[in-house]
Amino acid sequence: MKCKLLIFAVLAGSIIFISCDSSREQASDAKDFPNVSEAKIDSLINLMTLDEKLVLIHAGSSFTSGGIPRLNIPELVKSDGPHGVRHEDGRGWAALDDADDEATYLPVVICLASTWNKDLGYEYGVVLGNEAKERGKHVLLGPGINIIRSPLNGRNFEYLSEDPFLTGVMAVGYVKGLQEQGVAACPKHFAANNQETDRHNIDVLVSKRALHEIYFPAFRAVVQDGGAWSIMGAYNKINGQYTTHHEYLNNVVLKGEWGFDGAVISDWGSVKDTREALLYGTDIEMGTELLRDFNNPEYDEFYLARPAKEMIESGEIDESYVDDKVRRVLRLLQRTTAMGEHGPGKRNVEEHQQLALEVAREGIVLLKNDGLLPLDKREIKTLAVIGHNATRLFAERGGSSQVNALYEITPLEGIKNLLGDDVEVMYAEGYEPYYDESLFRGEGGDAASQSTENRQEVELARSANKGLMDEAVALAEKADAVIFVGGWIHGHEGMPWGEGTYDAEARDKLNLKLIFGQEELIRKINSVNDRAAVVLMGGSNVEMNNWLPDTPAYLHAWYPGMEGGRAIAEILFGEINPSGKLPMTFADSHEEYPSHSIGEFPGDGTVDYAEDIYVGYRYFDTHEKQVAFPFGFGLSYTSFAFSDLKVTHRDDKVVVQCTVTNTGDRDGAEVAQVYIHPKNPSVDRPVRELKGFEKVELAPGASATVTIELDKTAFKFYHPEELKWVLESGSYEVQVGNSSRDIELREEVML
Ligand code: BGC
Repeated sequence: MKCKLLIFAVLAGSIIFISCDSSREQASDAKDFPNVSEAKIDSLINLMTLDEKLVLIHAGSSFTSGGIPRLNIPELVKSDGPHGVRHEDGRGWAALDDADDEATYLPVVICLASTWNKDLGYEYGVVLGNEAKERGKHVLLGPGINIIRSPLNGRNFEYLSEDPFLTGVMAVGYVKGLQEQGVAACPKHFAANNQETDRHNIDVLVSKRALHEIYFPAFRAVVQDGGAWSIMGAYNKINGQYTTHHEYLNNVVLKGEWGFDGAVISDWGSVKDTREALLYGTDIEMGTELLRDFNNPEYDEFYLARPAKEMIESGEIDESYVDDKVRRVLRLLQRTTAMGEHGPGKRNVEEHQQLALEVAREGIVLLKNDGLLPLDKREIKTLAVIGHNATRLFAERGGSSQVNALYEITPLEGIKNLLGDDVEVMYAEGYEPYYDESLFRGEGGDAASQSTENRQEVELARSANKGLMDEAVALAEKADAVIFVGGWIHGHEGMPWGEGTYDAEARDKLNLKLIFGQEELIRKINSVNDRAAVVLMGGSNVEMNNWLPDTPAYLHAWYPGMEGGRAIAEILFGEINPSGKLPMTFADSHEEYPSHSIGEFPGDGTVDYAEDIYVGYRYFDTHEKQVAFPFGFGLSYTSFAFSDLKVTHRDDKVVVQCTVTNTGDRDGAEVAQVYIHPKNPSVDRPVRELKGFEKVELAPGASATVTIELDKTAFKFYHPEELKWVLESGSYEVQVGNSSRDIELREEVML
């Protein structure tokens, strides 16, 4: 680093930089990292021409923004994605075929959230940071922390939860783990980016209260508690203004109230206006499509390039706005490996694969078990594994989050590996996916209208599936037990968008009905074999009324990553005791979610969030609505009891303490969830809100004391008229349980 500073000075023709004062030496010292030297930043800005400044604030290729060789400032290199470093694209959009770019494919982040294990959030970030660093990336474009508002959003698998607190806690760990490796997190997409339909233009009509209570808190947490070095703006508008250059979001809240000193990076192509981008907080413009030649976008024509220069030179906008952006970009460069020393990264190592396995083991959720699970391999001679998803690979699908996985263990492989020669495993695909244009909406807007050609293809595929179904049912009939593996898929195989793009970027689902005839297939399997467990993949739930009552066991596996097949097998056969808990409510159909029954989804030009703060369980619980599986729910092969709730005041905090006991006969893990219920609020408030949780592992008969400290913010609400956070004195009930509907302990506390 010292050497670099010397070169700066010589090239810049200035002696200011040559004098190596001790503070500068310290700032460039690895052990002081990530301290930023504002003095050095000032000097660099002073040395730059306007053209050079502008180079730093817009893209220079698909995933880089410009550097200044004269001043030895490197390009800033970014990469997707949130659950594994994306394949190498070079400087255009085509994947480099010859690159050694396989990576660890972790379970998707909704599976991470289902673990409710804070340590895993941190370790997940450490793995990604190491892999990104090894590949020379400075910014990793994740985690996705938008709130799950509707189960139909095609990107829910890239988001964590319907609850802002759970999202925030897990994301803070992720951000810290990542950034400790010298790679910036870029939590996305700020904010209220809750659908893919019309995502580039949809105008979200939402109250300030809902923004502050539901859509902002996880962003505030990654900034203030996680120390995120960058944030990605979103495509959508909020109340009339594009979020990437939104005065209230970026200037007032993010950089003002929350004190964010990092850089706001646009989503790819989300800048729409030079003036607003200059004034309202966009620091780096990426991906704007000026693609007369697909592989040669005209970067000099980006909003924050030539058009910005003209505005500044004409005096319309003061250059200090650009300086502030440059300062933030330089901070980002200094904090990351771009200009700092952080040691080498590592990729595709065993410990990363082990972490992928741990997250899958703890994130897969057992939702129903009438005693069928765990299966005992000594009692089974023949096992039928049925379903396309038992052999499907998921890593390289879904949009920008796709990963070129080093390997991916499918459920069928996981089951076969676990059973060895002891059990005869037979496989039938049962159904094949097909591309049905009528089943999803696209970023272009409307539900896709179906061409005659596609209708005919769908008819053919459906009749072929009848044959596959008969074959599978015959297999189920003769097996001692059945494991059905189905659910959603994420498509995106090549351009355009590939077959069956349900859980994928730029797509929303039309409803939650099981696709490709799986419902009928499950029902038929149940009618010939009463020992059939259902395992579903997916970034959300499916309608269950027609098959769940006759199904003895149901495991929801999300997309469980490269070791997912192994974890599924271990849970089914009892080598691992499941401990995942739902981070979103599973209701019976999408119409029951408040985004559909009260608000709008996906809207038309505008989308009205009329349900306001009543998202997920905040709505279902407050209005006592029946749900299939509540928020926070998940079964174990053992049982737990909660006792001895004590709620006390210590300093400025409320301390919640209780005992969790494993009352069954297996090792297991339980999550103590702490909810707050205001007894007599002066404004409408949800009947309960999650404010703390702790996961404990317990041997049979063992107990643990769980202590959760709540500070005053846990009791506050955002006043709809006063437009500020308010702490109301009065009586609150502290509730502890293992789902939002299974409250085991309650105690009143006065504030
Ligand atoms: C997505 C982002 C992603 C970016 C770069 C956008 O379309 O919304 O999440 O990071 O592309 O691939």
